[in-house]
Amino acid sequence: MNTLDAIKSRRSIRKYRTDADLPQADLEQILEAGMLAPSACDRRAWEFVVVRSQAVKEQIMALHPYTQMLKTAPLAVVVCGRPDLQDGIGEGFWPQDCAAVVENMLLAAVELGYGGCWCGCYPKVERAEQLRALLGATGTPVAVVALGVPDEAPKARGFFEPEKVRYL
Ligand SMILES: Cc1cc2nc3c(=O)[nH]c(=O)nc-3n(C[C@H](O)[C@H](O)[C@H](O)COP(=O)(O)O)c2cc1C
Repeated sequence: MNTLDAIKSRRSIRKYRTDADLPQADLEQILEAGMLAPSACDRRAWEFVVVRSQAVKEQIMALHPYTQMLKTAPLAVVVCGRPDLQDGIGEGFWPQDCAAVVENMLLAAVELGYGGCWCGCYPKVERAEQLRALLGATGTPVAVVALGVPDEAPKARGFFEPEKVRYL
């Protein structure tokens, strides 16, 4: 699959096959795709928490109401920003760094035959703090990324909205 095909076919998946796993080798490819994202001043101000525990997934669903797809997803990767790893002109860009990470991960998942769903945390500060405490993370949770084998197939979309583009 080429990059444009992956971009065009990616959809948010909220129902996963409960009889199919996402093995560690594939997970590491997805994580590496995230880690290859561009970042301000190349500070890579992020960390990852992989959640396979059903008990922890249930706690995430309890504190973040829009993560209910974790009922069927075999795992979630929580992408956290690490502002403490930034300095100088890179400071403050960590949410953008993490957003690039999430999209890379979602596209890598498509390439490998999986699906994912981006569930936003930061800048909902209270939710991000609760999640950080739950996970024992150093950084600030920016997104919970559900991953697994899709059990639904939302249609690929395609739209080019020329009215949203200005040419100078
Ligand atoms: C910053 C951000 C936060 C999101 N948070 C959630 C969420 O909490 N729960 C959810 O089910 N989807 C969430 N989504 C997914 C969007 O709902 C989804 O991308 C959008 O509806 C477009 O659909 P598509 O991803 O299938 O193209 C989020 C997406 C982004 C970029």
